[in-house]
Amino acid sequence: MQIRHFHNRDLVDVWQVASDALHERYDPSIFTQLVPFWPDGLLVIEDMGRVVAFVFGVMSGVQHARVLMLAVERNYRGAGLGTLLTQEFFRECGKKGVRQVSLEVRASNFAAQRFYQRLGFFTVRRVPKYYSDGEDGILFLRYL
Ligand SMILES: CC(C)(COP(=O)(O)OP(=O)(O)OC[C@H]1O[C@@H](n2cnc3c(N)ncnc32)[C@H](O)[C@@H]1OP(=O)(O)O)[C@@H](O)C(=O)NCCC(=O)NCCS
Repeated sequence: MQIRHFHNRDLVDVWQVASDALHERYDPSIFTQLVPFWPDGLLVIEDMGRVVAFVFGVMSGVQHARVLMLAVERNYRGAGLGTLLTQEFFRECGKKGVRQVSLEVRASNFAAQRFYQRLGFFTVRRVPKYYSDGEDGILFLRYL
């Protein structure tokens, strides 16, 4: 197993993991569109030649980064991959002088909310109808 930066050739695998794990339908082009903004903020974990987990983040201010997506393939969950990706993402943030990382989680996704709280994030507020199906989001923040 290997953690590394995203390459365009990972697109199909990443789209597959995202489509299975996240309740949003993503246009595959969104992943490649993100690459020029901050390539180091896009990380994947590969196992046996296939991407099984990824985190995509963007810089959203001078010292502020946002996690747009984080997903681990079902069979690989609970094994520390999500934690590893997040910690590596924090390291990349550190190199850019990022002081705050924010993200949104579905109000119904308690497992992910607990996961982020364990990693030091705290709840800022509820964001009404944040998701395309009308579900509220919960805004989380962590200081680095
Ligand atoms: C949320 C998610 C990214 C967590 O990734 P993960 O690799 O399963 O998380 P980890 O193994 O690093 O788990 C960290 C902690 O959460 C627990 N945990 C999280 N998900 C778990 C699961 N499905 N089964 C068992 N334990 C789980 C772990 O036991 C661990 O706790 P500990 O540190 O006290 O031992 C992953 O479950 C996932 O992809 N979910 C679907 C997509 C999603 O909700 N994304 C986040 C919203 S953007």
